[in-house]
Amino acid sequence: MASFIKPSFAVLLLSALAACGGQQQESTPAAPSETPAASAPAESSAPAPASEASAVEASAPAASEPAQSADACETTVEANDQMQYNTQEISINKACQSFTVKLKHTGSAPKTSMGHNLVITKTADIDDVAKEAMAAGPDQGYLKADDARIIAHTDMIGGGEETNLTIDPSKLADGSYSFFCTFPGHSGVMRGTINVH
Ligand code: CO
Repeated sequence: MASFIKPSFAVLLLSALAACGGQQQESTPAAPSETPAASAPAESSAPAPASEASAVEASAPAASEPAQSADACETTVEANDQMQYNTQEISINKACQSFTVKLKHTGSAPKTSMGHNLVITKTADIDDVAKEAMAAGPDQGYLKADDARIIAHTDMIGGGEETNLTIDPSKLADGSYSFFCTFPGHSGVMRGTINVH
């Protein structure tokens, strides 16, 4: 009798094992899904440099963003001994309550022979203002005093010197504006556009 019971138990055990096996097989899909995940890290060892590259790319904008925000209401223009500004455009953010333009003379020539300033007027006024500034002479820093056409201006500087001007961007709301140097003979080449945005 017991020999009959045992096989029946064995069948029950087998069926139980089969049932367990079935459950394990049902649970195995979870295991295969883990294997791709497990193999993914192994494959990602190759993409890892890409993630480093993207990290570099991410850090580059991150580094430039603070610089942009810091420079949002100021910019630097360089002028040299070759009678050149280093830019032909100054971009001014109209959201700024005041905007500062720094002028740096990177040359070594004295201001008596290679002086530079930075004057902002309406573009249409450049030639007349420059002509009258020249007539004002070096003692006036080649600027006509109390010239209403001049929106803003720096001092005249020589090599190695720096100066700056501050302007209210709202004064540039209407019209087309430019910057230029009023040292005699310079305004023809030392000029650029003011871009208010
Ligand atoms: Co100049």
